[in-house]
Amino acid sequence: MKKYIKKIAVMTSGGDSPGMNAAIRSVIRSASYYKLESVGIYRGYQGLIEGDIVKMDARSVHHIIQKGGTILKTARSDEFRTIEGRKKAYDNLVKHEIDAMVIIGGDGSFTGGMIFNQEHGFPLIGIPGTIDNDIYGTDFTIGYDTALNTAVEVIDKIRDTASSHNRLFFVEVMGRDAGFIALNAGIGAGAEEILIPEENMGLDRLLMTLERSRRSGKTSSLVVVAEGDKTGANVFELASYVEENLPEYSVRVSVLGHMQRGGAPSCFDRVLASRMGVKAVELLIDGKTNLMVGQLNNVMVTTELEKAIKEHHSISKEILRVSDIMSV
Ligand code: F6P
Repeated sequence: MKKYIKKIAVMTSGGDSPGMNAAIRSVIRSASYYKLESVGIYRGYQGLIEGDIVKMDARSVHHIIQKGGTILKTARSDEFRTIEGRKKAYDNLVKHEIDAMVIIGGDGSFTGGMIFNQEHGFPLIGIPGTIDNDIYGTDFTIGYDTALNTAVEVIDKIRDTASSHNRLFFVEVMGRDAGFIALNAGIGAGAEEILIPEENMGLDRLLMTLERSRRSGKTSSLVVVAEGDKTGANVFELASYVEENLPEYSVRVSVLGHMQRGGAPSCFDRVLASRMGVKAVELLIDGKTNLMVGQLNNVMVTTELEKAIKEHHSISKEILRVSDIMSV
């Protein structure tokens, strides 16, 4: 039987991403639109365990749509991995008379939410927020577009100095398990070579393509490497290997790191987050639970949390082909 909900909670969990504030705003404003009460939970599941919960309304989320980070803070909670931790979390939800919850985060946060739902039957909906774009059931996760633009902007600058000195740069971008940022920022910035975790290019082929590119008259080169790429042990090792084997190259390394997680969200991420927040609240009102909101072919859709966690968001073969053709 459908249980009518009166009060909704929202939290951000796991690694932050630009646009999370826009998603929080959307959830709170949607709750207000549908005459529901709402609260924010600070620091994800850890804050829930500790009862770090604050009442919110449409006005408490003004002027945050343009801000990076998350006003609710975020955390990874070891305690929530335990039955006792999840029981404390549940007790706090009951104490605050919360009927349903929206979790903005990545697959780790969704796994926690799914186990929590199985144990306590608590209604919850996930919104995918991570710069890695590695979640099944959505073409885009919140923050990915902004991170891509940040990466391209910086790589363009590196290109300037690479070109002035006729140097080869290895630029490491984020993506522990996924090459979405590397592949798309690499194409966008005109990288000569792109290394991603999904495809081990092999050191020999890397040397061959760099040699070919030098012979073809290129004076500077950029190789964009995803953090999780397996071609070498890490980007520094890759750079030394190339320097040893192609001594004619002057090689430098630049690791972009956490700057990719910050900054004002792009308009795309703000709109995506706004759409996802509305959809999440409407699903809860409709009595739905254990689903993740996604956007596929510009349509808002849902995927079972279990499926979103287990299935893999694959890199497009067509984009890979484009990247190969562009590096000729
Ligand atoms: O947000 C995802 C991600 O950026 C990964 O690509 C990266 O490996 C990881 O977060 C690092 O996160 P943290 O430094 O917070 O552990």
